[in-house]
Amino acid sequence: MRRKFVAGNWKMNTLAGSATALAKGLAEGVLTTESVDVAVFPPLPYLAAVSATVAGSGVRVGAQNVYHEKPGAFTGEVSVEMLLDVGCQWVLVGHSERRHLVGECNSLVNRKLIQACERGLSVILCVGETLLERQSHQTEMVLNSQMAGSLLGVDAALMPKIVIAYEPVWAIGTGVNATPDQAESAHHHLRTWLAGRYNRMVSESTRILYGGSVKANNAKELLSLSNVDGVLVGGASLEVEGFSKIIQAARDVSR
Ligand code: 13P
Repeated sequence: MRRKFVAGNWKMNTLAGSATALAKGLAEGVLTTESVDVAVFPPLPYLAAVSATVAGSGVRVGAQNVYHEKPGAFTGEVSVEMLLDVGCQWVLVGHSERRHLVGECNSLVNRKLIQACERGLSVILCVGETLLERQSHQTEMVLNSQMAGSLLGVDAALMPKIVIAYEPVWAIGTGVNATPDQAESAHHHLRTWLAGRYNRMVSESTRILYGGSVKANNAKELLSLSNVDGVLVGGASLEVEGFSKIIQAARDVSR
């Protein structure tokens, strides 16, 4: 059975005090013996402090971005080695805000993913269609092309280090989450794609998270879907109480 995964993407939110307070609140409620995986993705300047705060708890830490080159003359960028050094185990790649606001393309996402996995991080690869693409019935085509481009040259051997997150762009930060049918259908499509590109074992073992307006009141329904193995939460991960309820929903459906 695939272990449920609850991830909190803090995006460009919090300051040092609120980041460590949030981390402390979560760490108190998440034990190392959890039946689910929990990770938070704070802004880069607070990674070290958050890692220190959650040490010894069941909360893992990841970064929202990484650069694909080895350390060197890349002004403003952050390497895999630096992220490992400050206690990260995870990194997000291909998030829609980076694809659409910063202009990251599949080939850059692909380079980041390969370098991160090969040099010691686990990766959450985000994919998802825009509203226009959904309305023009291109959802599956867009997912296929993001998956193929982002996983170009990635062997099955690397797949245990990769989690997929389906995040429809129209559901991010809008309060409009995908219906259970829409989520299940996209996740089923992604799982079928993995079977075709790799094999049945990769398809059945790779976790696929849903992201987009996940809140305490809709998490359980989404987490109960057979192809939804967890959630990637934005806004609702910024409060201990709300995020803890989402973690509890994942525990409940894992029983
Ligand atoms: P919201 O939960 O705020 O919609 O954000 C989702 C997201 O982008 C997580 O990466």
